[in-house]
Amino acid sequence: MILYFTGTGNSAFIANTIASHLNDEVMNLFDKIRDHDYSELSSEQPWIIVTPTYAWRIPHIVSDWINKVSLKGNRNIYFFMTCGGSIGYAEKYLEEISQQKKLIYKGCAEIVMPENYIAMFETTPSNEVDGMLQIAKEKTLEISTYVKENKSIPQKTMTLKDKLNSGIVNNLFYPLFVHAKKFYVTDQCISCGQCERVCPLKNIQLKDRKPVWGHDCTHCMACISYCPTKAIEYGKKTVGKQRYVCPKY
Ligand SMILES: Cc1cc2nc3c(=O)[nH]c(=O)nc-3n(C[C@H](O)[C@H](O)[C@H](O)COP(=O)(O)O)c2cc1C
Repeated sequence: MILYFTGTGNSAFIANTIASHLNDEVMNLFDKIRDHDYSELSSEQPWIIVTPTYAWRIPHIVSDWINKVSLKGNRNIYFFMTCGGSIGYAEKYLEEISQQKKLIYKGCAEIVMPENYIAMFETTPSNEVDGMLQIAKEKTLEISTYVKENKSIPQKTMTLKDKLNSGIVNNLFYPLFVHAKKFYVTDQCISCGQCERVCPLKNIQLKDRKPVWGHDCTHCMACISYCPTKAIEYGKKTVGKQRYVCPKY
């Protein structure tokens, strides 16, 4: 069974690409994470987790959910991490989670995709998006064959930089950068409630018809990226910048 989390659609596209290749069931974790639903899941096929990369590891909300849920049936687990450039040394932590869950770690695919982290960087120019998605799709299909043949995905070579990024930098990233304090809405807001609906943590509520952010943010970029009038900004960083949502999702 393929389980995916996505902020802006890249990981959903990859999850569905794997599902069509393996003819396997695919489940969006959005409602499960949002509703703190850890009810038991069972699959005869290997578990395949597809997620974005946040600070060179899987998002904490995904690892927290995996830690709490009960996964019955097949004992093999594969990961596909979509990223803007690199997953660093995420594998170390994925192996640990797998061991804790008494699952057999079968490797992690690094799938480079368009950049969505608008609060930090420029998103990928729109004329480069289609080409990147095509390459990502081809790589995903190639690696899905390992799953089909019950083989492990070959590990990538790790550098000291990868280890530091996934270790100390990830640990600092969450307390220092991951908060909603800098989100605000401009006069372009039409009170459609889209930001409230796409937040995986129920962290946004419309008050007086305008979004208000709470303290539980994971920086998935869904609210700012799906706003139909580009009314949401993050400090000065995002003003005038192009938003990204996967066009294949
Ligand atoms: C909070 C945050 C942190 C990110 N950190 C990384 C990173 O460490 N390495 C990387 O290559 N891309 C990073 N990215 C880019 C995303 O992983 C990438 O664009 C991903 O495909 C988005 O997936 P989604 O559309 O399914 O949410 C980050 C994005 C966000 C929002």
